[in-house]
Amino acid sequence: MIVVKAGGRTLMNNMKNIVKDIAKRNDVIFVHGGGDLVDEWEKRMGMEPQFKVSASGIKFRYTDEKELEVFVAVLGGLLNKKIVSMISAEGGRAAGITGADGPTVIAERKKKVIVREKVGEREVKRVIPGGLTGKIKEVRPELLRTLLDMGITPVVAPIALGTEGELLNVNGDQMAAEIAKAVKAEYLVLLTDVPGVLIDGEVVREIKSSEAEDFAKRVGPGMNIKIIMAGRVAKEGTKVIICDGTKESPLSCIKKGEGTWIV
Ligand SMILES: Nc1ncnc2c1ncn2[C@@H]1O[C@H](COP(=O)(O)OP(=O)(O)OP(=O)(O)O)[C@@H](O)[C@H]1O
Ligand SMILES: [Mg+2]
Repeated sequence: MIVVKAGGRTLMNNMKNIVKDIAKRNDVIFVHGGGDLVDEWEKRMGMEPQFKVSASGIKFRYTDEKELEVFVAVLGGLLNKKIVSMISAEGGRAAGITGADGPTVIAERKKKVIVREKVGEREVKRVIPGGLTGKIKEVRPELLRTLLDMGITPVVAPIALGTEGELLNVNGDQMAAEIAKAVKAEYLVLLTDVPGVLIDGEVVREIKSSEAEDFAKRVGPGMNIKIIMAGRVAKEGTKVIICDGTKESPLSCIKKGEGTWIV
């Protein structure tokens, strides 16, 4: 089994090629991001997306109740179903779910988060309410397995069921990583809009899981969380590949050994 995650921008620009590669296989669990599309819809509805930086330097979307509604409608609805329809158009079979279906992904609402903020020139840390964002606690892979056994590709939106029965926004990279761990996937492929982890303009070929936390400190937002999650998954025996999702055959990075491999 392999878990593939594609980010929003990558998907919007190269959905056809990504979906084509997925439709060819029958062992893929596909997790999608789509933050950019949520931003677009929030703006259409007169809302302004909010982003914060956690104390550990991870940029994240701040989700209040209204924003969660848009998040679920756009990612769990529109984008999820668009991907399902495109897999079908390529001759595959797919079913779109969120982590709340099953339930498959259970998360705990972050009650409070510590964020870094700029006050003038100074950077300060502040505690704010966590909003409707969850930290994943448990993955129950039964529904994913059942779908795969039936020859149907699960397409999973990054929404979890909270421990109090609420819907929560979760990070797509974290979701893919936790699913990969739960199903003991052979590979976790993170398709993004860069050719891999870049240090001084060069793609890093390999990162040992023991070095991941240190590497994460040397890269910017977006990439740092991938490396942290990748390190944790690789420690459990899943090979993680961060590679270019904008190519004609994005999943060929597995065979070709392209991108950054975290092992
Ligand atoms: N050292 C680095 N090497 C490669 N990319 C980096 C580095 N530092 C920061 N980045 C940024 O990380 C981005 C990828 O993460 P980002 O969160 O933007 O996309 P994604 O995770 O693929 O999509 P989404 O967040 O919508 O799921 C790249 O576009 C790049 O700008
Ligand atoms: Mg991202």
